[in-house]
Amino acid sequence: MELKDRDAMKKAVAREALKFVEDDMVVGLGTGSTTSYFIEYLGKLIAEEELEIYGIPTSYQSRILAVENGIPLASLDEFDGVDLAVDGADEVDPELNLIKGRGAALTMEKCIEYRAGTFVVLVDESKLVGRLGKRMPVPVEVIPAVWRVVAEELEVFNARAELRMAEKKDGPVVTDNGNFIIDAMFPRIDDPLDLEVELNTIPGVIENGIFADMADVVLVGTGEGVRRLER
Ligand code: A5P
Repeated sequence: MELKDRDAMKKAVAREALKFVEDDMVVGLGTGSTTSYFIEYLGKLIAEEELEIYGIPTSYQSRILAVENGIPLASLDEFDGVDLAVDGADEVDPELNLIKGRGAALTMEKCIEYRAGTFVVLVDESKLVGRLGKRMPVPVEVIPAVWRVVAEELEVFNARAELRMAEKKDGPVVTDNGNFIIDAMFPRIDDPLDLEVELNTIPGVIENGIFADMADVVLVGTGEGVRRLER
């Protein structure tokens, strides 16, 4: 798939996601290149239709974009819940389980999307997989002081675990929460929910990038238009 096509698909799903937006909503703003388009379009919609909408960002990236696009910001402290959350994903399986966290924002993404009335995921068709973890590692956010022992403990699950290194900084990626990311490649993930829960029992693990049973709708950008998958 050419980069140009992929970008067109991202824009198409981001536009389609606006159909889930209603006045007076609190909207979780995901992270990544696809959601960036959604944030841009949401800002325009709010201005054009004079909507009263608050956005809860999942990262510094989405916070900055929301401010640039005139979306009033809020936090989980101020509202009982989130009406709608919109975010991208790295892999989507046939049951709509996800792997997320390529952008290292998985923890706040999960905190907000878990609490959303409706969680809409935006992907292009290259993200659809038969089984999670076939191509992408599972990102695991971990307290820096224990990253090495956690990496060793992940080997109990037969995972190949690597500390994620930064590209425009020397040393490891540091998340918005001040932690490290271990990318864990599992030989086979048969039960995503089981693995998601089990990984979070390792002391020092803050959160992991398996989002099992969370997505309500996945909008898939294809060459023929946007396909809607629902649970
Ligand atoms: C951020 O940590 C990730 O979970 C992203 O939401 C995910 O990687 C999708 O990003 P793209 O839309 O850029 O592919």
